[in-house]
Amino acid sequence: MSIGDLSVAAEDVEAYLESGAPHPRVVVIAGSGLGGLADAVERQHVVSHMDLPGFPKAGTSVRGHEGRVVGGYIGDTPVAIFQGRVHCYQGVSARDAAYPARFAAALGAEVLVVTNAAGGVSEDLAPGQIVLIRDHINLMGDNPLLGWSGPEGGTPFVSMYGAYDKQMRSIAVAVAEEIGVTVTEGVYAGLLGPTYETPAEVAFVRTAGADVVGMSTVPEVIVARAFGLKVLGLSLVTNVAGASGISHAEVLEAGKHAEESLTALVGAVLSRL
Ligand code: HPA
Repeated sequence: MSIGDLSVAAEDVEAYLESGAPHPRVVVIAGSGLGGLADAVERQHVVSHMDLPGFPKAGTSVRGHEGRVVGGYIGDTPVAIFQGRVHCYQGVSARDAAYPARFAAALGAEVLVVTNAAGGVSEDLAPGQIVLIRDHINLMGDNPLLGWSGPEGGTPFVSMYGAYDKQMRSIAVAVAEEIGVTVTEGVYAGLLGPTYETPAEVAFVRTAGADVVGMSTVPEVIVARAFGLKVLGLSLVTNVAGASGISHAEVLEAGKHAEESLTALVGAVLSRL
């Protein structure tokens, strides 16, 4: 593998397909405490991250991020759901953190759905609310395309205009309305972590136009766009960003409470794709 190589090894693809899982049309990355979506998968085949040779070995593991991929169907849609992701704050590059998106591209998926737990930056957001990501701000200090020379005969300069697909957002809004889940659109700022933000940093990202802040998602979305996958991104607000006394346990707990709505929403969207 050369620097900037975004491919996923044939062994990874084989290991996944040998489980009996179908080629996914949609790959979903389930964030902290949002892994319950996998329960909605029918005709399940489960592959551990450990059985995917290229899956990044993080320096640390964080509770609440179970490591497996669940393949199967939601409705008639073939899906692969990554339960747990590897974050840059665990000491891996953005390229490695974006493994699920590289995997999605290697398997010919058309859509990447990313969910995450995030801190609410906008004063209009309270814990438990779901934000449909309209755009992002990359403040992670890394980019998964570093060293990439672009697709065959192309350049590495990927447009990030409309990265969060408008049509997918419309579907999500329509489905949310139908099933009675409230969503608001917003901008996600991705920071490196693992520290939570200082109040000054929260004020900074708010001024910059962010509504939510988190430590993931940006690398995967960039890779998805590099390969032309459509992206749907959803944040679950687990806490007020920059507030005193945020704990990972609290973030997981809030995730659990609002998980049902987010799971129902993503499940209903997937069954329609
Ligand atoms: N900041 C960054 N990431 C997060 C937060 C937060 O407040 N909550 C959950 N993930």
